[in-house]
Formats: sequence, C-alpha cells, structure tokens
Amino acid sequence: MKFAASILTLSLGCAFLASPAAAQGDAERGAKLAYTCQGCHGIAGYRNAYPSYRVPKLGGQKAAYLVAALQGYQDGTREHPTMRAQAASMSDEDLQDLAAYFSSIAKDTVAAGGSDTAGIEAAQTCVACHGQNGIAVSPNWPTLAGQHQDYLEHALNQYRDGTRKNPVMAQMAAPLSDEDVAALVRYYASLKGLETTVVE
Ligand code: HEC
Ligand code: HEC
Repeated sequence: MKFAASILTLSLGCAFLASPAAAQGDAERGAKLAYTCQGCHGIAGYRNAYPSYRVPKLGGQKAAYLVAALQGYQDGTREHPTMRAQAASMSDEDLQDLAAYFSSIAKDTVAAGGSDTAGIEAAQTCVACHGQNGIAVSPNWPTLAGQHQDYLEHALNQYRDGTRKNPVMAQMAAPLSDEDVAALVRYYASLKGLETTVVE
C-alpha cells in the first residue's frame, strides 16, 4: 500500500501498528468499527425479525471467511438487506480490521467432538472443510461449532433454494433431506466453538 495512506493513519494515533504492507487487519481498529455491529451481533440470542432466526455468532469465526462473507453482502451473492446496507460503505481495510477483531475472540475451542451419532454420521461429508469438531480447517471456510442452530438451518436452506449463492455449498446442500439438515444443525450447534461478542 502507499505511504500516503499510512501517513494518514498517523492522525488516528496508532501509526506504529500500521505497516504499509499489512496483509492482515488491525484488530484494535476493528473493535472500534464493530461498535455498530454489536446492536445485533453483540446481544445473546438476538433475532432477525423476518424470517425469524438468531443473528449469527461472529466471535472466533475465521478471518478470511468473515471478509468473504462481507464481500458477499457487498456484491449481492448474499441478499440480506440490513447486512447489505452495513457492508456497502466498508472499505477493504474496514473488512480486514473487522475480521481481525472478530476472529481474535477465540477461547480454547478445539474440544469436545459431541455424542450425537445421527449428526456425526451426517457430517462425514463436511469434515474435510468444516473440521472434525466443526472448527474449519482453513481460514477461508466458516467454523460451524457453536453457531446458532436456527441460523445454520436458515443458511443450509438458502444454499438449497439458491438464495445464497456459493458453488461449493450449493453442491453440498443439494442432496440433503430435511432430516439430514435437522441432524446436522443440531449436531454443529451442540459443539463448543463460536461465541457472541457480548458488549461489556
Ligand atoms: C440490524 C442487525 C445487524 C447489524 C447492525 C449487523 N448485522 Fe451482521 N448480520 C445480521 C443478520 C440478521 C445476519 C444473517 C444474514 C443472512 O442470513 O445472510 C448477519 C450476518 C453477518 C455476517 C455473516 C456471518 C456468517 O456466519 O456467515 C457477518 C460477517 C456480519 N453479519 C458482520 C457484521 C458486521 C461486521 C457488522 C457491523 C459493521 C454487522 N454485521 C452489523 C444482522 C446485523
Ligand atoms: C469443500 C469444502 C466444503 C465442504 C465439504 C462443506 N462445506 Fe460448508 N461451507 C464451505 C464454504 C467455502 C462455505 C462459505 C460459503 C459462503 O460464503 O456462503 C461454507 C458455508 C457453510 C455454512 C454457512 C455458515 C455460515 O456461517 O453462514 C453452513 C451451515 C455449511 N457450510 C454447512 C455444511 C455442511 C452441513 C456440510 C456437509 C453436508 C458442508 N458444509 C460441507 C465449504 C465446504
């Protein structure tokens, strides 16, 4: 990036942290930007009005996936109107910084595999990307462990009906029956992982 840009950040008071070639975001700046997100993402169990499902947990989510998700709202491959409005004005730097902040909120999550046999069986085709314990194996893929059950169901149904566009997940979700979806979302929601970023 240009030096002019880093000189500008001097006035923001954290110039020494801002590397001109920063490949990853500034979690501290992200925490400040995230203030506007907490009204929904920072309230445990807060619901989207219609259709009704819980606003997804972002704490501990993978950074590159968070950036991709926000870009999806920017380019319309994800259609949620409020999130599209939220993402519309974000710069690339904002996306990186927000992702750095939310992904940094991770406790010791790589744990408990769960004991839901129907869920474990249905999840066999998912582990290659979403991990043995629902913790994604690459930063590009979302962690599912601990996510709200009704949000996971909403997401899978969106891949199934094509309202959320992603070629990989469209293919993964297409053969699932309603029973498969029910077992999968119950299983992933029961695992330890993502957290609501509750405001103190
Ligand atoms: C008015 C409530 C509201 C506000 C404010 C809000 N969000 Fe969201 N957010 C939602 C809802 C609802 C969804 C799920 C939308 C969907 O189904 O696609 C969502 C989805 C997301 C996702 C996708 C999560 C995933 O697992 O795929 C990200 C990332 C996200 N929001 C980030 C943010 C950020 C960053 C901010 C602040 C700049 C923010 N949101 C502000 C309600 C909100
Ligand atoms: C080849 C890798 C791969 C496999 C296998 C895979 N997924 Fe995914 N999954 C992804 C990617 C990439 C995304 C993000 C897509 C997007 O941006 O919408 C995703 C997104 C999701 C989401 C949305 C998460 C969120 O926070 O919004 C759910 C739910 C999900 N996958 C469930 C599953 C289930 C259940 C299976 C097994 C039946 C599965 N996936 C198999 C790569 C994979």
